[in-house]
Amino acid sequence: MYTQSLSLDQEKKLAADTAEEQSREAAFQARIDAGDYIEPKDWMPAHYRKTLVRQISQHAHSEIVGMLPEGNWITRAPSLKRKAILLAKVQDEGGHGLYLYAAAETLGTSRDQMLDALHTGKAKYSSIFNYPTLTWADVGVIGWLVDGAAIMNQVPLCRCSYGPYARAMIRVCREESFHQRQGYESLLVMMQSGTEAQKAMVQDAVNRWWWPSIMMFGPHDSDSLHSEQSMRWGIKRISNDELRQKFVDATVEQANVLGVTLPDPDMKWNEARGHYDFGRIDWDEFWRVVGGDGPCNRERLATRVKAWDDGEWVREAALAHTHKQQQQQTKEAA
Ligand code: 3HC
Repeated sequence: MYTQSLSLDQEKKLAADTAEEQSREAAFQARIDAGDYIEPKDWMPAHYRKTLVRQISQHAHSEIVGMLPEGNWITRAPSLKRKAILLAKVQDEGGHGLYLYAAAETLGTSRDQMLDALHTGKAKYSSIFNYPTLTWADVGVIGWLVDGAAIMNQVPLCRCSYGPYARAMIRVCREESFHQRQGYESLLVMMQSGTEAQKAMVQDAVNRWWWPSIMMFGPHDSDSLHSEQSMRWGIKRISNDELRQKFVDATVEQANVLGVTLPDPDMKWNEARGHYDFGRIDWDEFWRVVGGDGPCNRERLATRVKAWDDGEWVREAALAHTHKQQQQQTKEAA
């Protein structure tokens, strides 16, 4: 293979550029280690930027796709009170998606690019949203387990080294607490004053949502592609397995109060560890769902693509209006 040899000057310039890049990266890492927030206009390694666009955009996709499973029950809520609560929650999730898309845009990507990546299957969203919501109890269990897991994973992100992401998370976490509490409360009502059939409906929902909920935290640390670098950069503050363990420890006690059984015969308190031991996660199922072959992947993505296509006229009208306003302002300024 022909390799063009560099002239002496070119070699010197390359060495100087490399040395400059290395010193910038060292200064950047020192800022992270000192607990600085990195802001959009700050210098950052290209890989740091790329990692954040990947994670924040996929987080945003999760919020938007996450509206679908519960949205399915808004017209069938058992009372006006439950309908109003569910409407508020699903609307919150849409708002979380918008905060996060806006945070990702500060890194130089665009809404269109992010949504194209989602619609073409290039970008992921959380595996949990590829499971069906078969009964009303699923709505309560999603609030309790899915939003509960999301809070566990999102609270540390309030200290993420990237400023816009951390600030978006502060507001998201406040609203997630309401999401988790409303779900748990609706289950408590059914378990404490519901019929036997309603109690059985709650237990059935717990059986179906428990394992997919603990999969939300991602693969084991030893199998995680990004954890080591993301922790060095202060993007990920606590590892996948540690957060999963925190979630299990907190949720077992809540399940006892609720009077439901978690579908894991290996779940038992380990005094020596000071944590609950739990059974093996089915990683084949996890990677199958992440890979697009879960119970609802195709339906979820088709729904999002249809919403994007159906909304084209709204985007065109909004852009035409903005364009007209800009023309008007230019004319007035002239
Ligand atoms: N679903 C889908 N993909 C997952 C996943 C899951 N549950 N867990 C991990 N993955 C993917 C990762 O995205 C990565 O793939 P990629 O390189 O194509 O992006 C791969 O599996 C390897 O996993 P890693 O652990 O190495 O990846 P991360 O370091 O990114 O950690 C994460 C994964 C913990 C999910 C992290 O991305 C994160 O904290 N994201 C922000 C929080 C988030 O997205 N939560 C999802 C739910 S949002 C929600 O629940 C909304 C609530 O209102 C209901």
